[in-house]
Amino acid sequence: MKWIHAKDSHEMSRLAAEFMIQEVKKQPSMVLGLATGGTPVGTYQELIRDARENGTSYKAITTFNLDEYVGLAGTHPNSYRYFMQQQLFEHIDLPIEQTYLPNGEAKDLMAECQRYEELIARHGGIDLQLLGIGTNGHIGFNEPGTSFQSTTHVVTLTKDTREANARFFTSLEEVPTHAITMGIATIMKSKRILLLASGEEKADILYQLALGEVDEKVPASILKQHPDVTIIADTVALRRVKEQELCGLR
Ligand code: F6R
Repeated sequence: MKWIHAKDSHEMSRLAAEFMIQEVKKQPSMVLGLATGGTPVGTYQELIRDARENGTSYKAITTFNLDEYVGLAGTHPNSYRYFMQQQLFEHIDLPIEQTYLPNGEAKDLMAECQRYEELIARHGGIDLQLLGIGTNGHIGFNEPGTSFQSTTHVVTLTKDTREANARFFTSLEEVPTHAITMGIATIMKSKRILLLASGEEKADILYQLALGEVDEKVPASILKQHPDVTIIADTVALRRVKEQELCGLR
């Protein structure tokens, strides 16, 4: 894993966007894996700014998001489809029909998971997957204990995750109880992975990721076995890692 130390969340977003833009320019028809949550928002803003100022084109790009809530229509303001439309898709020249998220409204959720997995494979797999990380080490909605062999599947959201995400809803009751997520094996098949982390609340999990064993109790720990992972994290998120003077951080 390559660790890049950003001064703050702005620098993290700028460096992440530069990384992604470079890949898009090298391979204009690449398959990008995208994430929601608070962490990538600044990166998406940087991508939008760059597209406006420098004309970077996403016309031939295909995107697959990590996850989607079960039971929310794409037009629901809390769905991840809606989030992606607002935060990125509507502001760049990426054709909407080339953007994929699991369908959380599918009648047969198991079939939907299989369809999503096959769709990714049919596109030749994900070239670059963007990831955030939960404070418990989750990636996508793969909570601690999820099998490293898992492919796209339906998850029951933990109380902690529902509470953490309740900030985007008017009440905890409104937060869906289930979601569809790419599995850990799905994520690991990506050719390159870019994981972002910012904020003090990520300091403990980054420390565990840097120092700990590969263990299903910490889903992100499997990334240590991936041949091409870059982590861009800001100073506060790296506080505990840096205390250990690990990883030849720059
Ligand atoms: C989002 C996702 C989640 C988030 C994680 C961190 O699509 O898959 O794993 O990346 O929960 O969330 P934030 O960025 O809000 O701290």
